[in-house]
Amino acid sequence: MITKQSSIGTPVAPPADLNNLLEPIKEELQIVEQWLVSNLVDDSPFIEELLQQVFKAGGKRIRPALCLLSAKATANPPGKLGRLQIILAVLTELIHTASLVHDDVIDSASLRRGQETVNRRWSEKLAVLIGDLLFAQASVCLSRLMNPVVVGIYGQVLGDLCAGEIRQMRQQFNTAMDFEAYIQKSVWKTASLFAAGTHAAPILNGSPDEHIIAMKEYGLNLGICFQIVDDLLDYTGSTEKLGKAAGSDLSQGLVTAPALFVLRRGGEAARKLEDIITTRQVATPQGIAEAISIIEANDGLTETVQLAREYAAKARQALTVLPSSPYRESLDGIVDWLLTRTN
Ligand code: FPP
Ligand code: MG
Repeated sequence: MITKQSSIGTPVAPPADLNNLLEPIKEELQIVEQWLVSNLVDDSPFIEELLQQVFKAGGKRIRPALCLLSAKATANPPGKLGRLQIILAVLTELIHTASLVHDDVIDSASLRRGQETVNRRWSEKLAVLIGDLLFAQASVCLSRLMNPVVVGIYGQVLGDLCAGEIRQMRQQFNTAMDFEAYIQKSVWKTASLFAAGTHAAPILNGSPDEHIIAMKEYGLNLGICFQIVDDLLDYTGSTEKLGKAAGSDLSQGLVTAPALFVLRRGGEAARKLEDIITTRQVATPQGIAEAISIIEANDGLTETVQLAREYAAKARQALTVLPSSPYRESLDGIVDWLLTRTN
């Protein structure tokens, strides 16, 4: 197979085309999109405008796609899909979007998906309320599923999102954070919502326990891998594609896998990096440039690629208990897409 240099600096297979992978759920994704757009209608034209700003900016819709693929891959026969699964996909995207609206308030971000954030264009107070309104819409969708186990799973997700954000806040500029805490934060912040969708879909299908457990494992490991790649892209991605400068997380004191690998190894490089972070020199242009070059020279990026691959392999392994189908193939292909994505 022909290989090329990936964004993460190692030879990999050509990037998987996400559109091809989503082909088996193309129609259902359009229905989800219509549902999301119909949520934009409100008695108040002002609220309607706010909601439009949030949704019309787009997004990859990867979380609803995973719900739909999990639903189709675990259906009997594979491919059958009920209305409840569409609602599950919609509510998963509503929760994701709501959390981003709140995250932009916490980060004082001005741009999201190439558009001005609600907090920037209007106010932080309005952004908090719009986020809450989206969470409320998600709760209404959740009630329509009439499944207490799924309600419990999503209740846990809301708590996890908050716990992840709090952990991240409290660990800023902390070079003593261990890998366990880093992975736990990634589960709370990202993987919990991925896993909720892939886990809930077979529950709604009434699938065998073996399939339900496998799809939870898949979502959890894929979500951790997604966050590790996100953390890596912060170092290697282009400013144009990510909308932020290289090393922007570390310059704000967010110590992620690339830095953790170097810090964990000890020695002169670790001591120097620790000094740059704890004295907050990372917030300066020279400081961040020096930190990045220490991380690059001491294999922080290559070890992070390896870590992402380990979680990708676990996600892929989980799928093996499912019957073979185009939907399982897409779930498998999404693992490759994730490892080669550039934004
Ligand atoms: C993006 O992180 C943010 C998240 C993955 C989740 C944020 C969660 C909250 C703010 C809590 C939500 C509140 C409730 C009530 C459940 P990032 O800043 O690393 O990514 P970015 O670069 O896309 O901003
Ligand atoms: Mg943010």
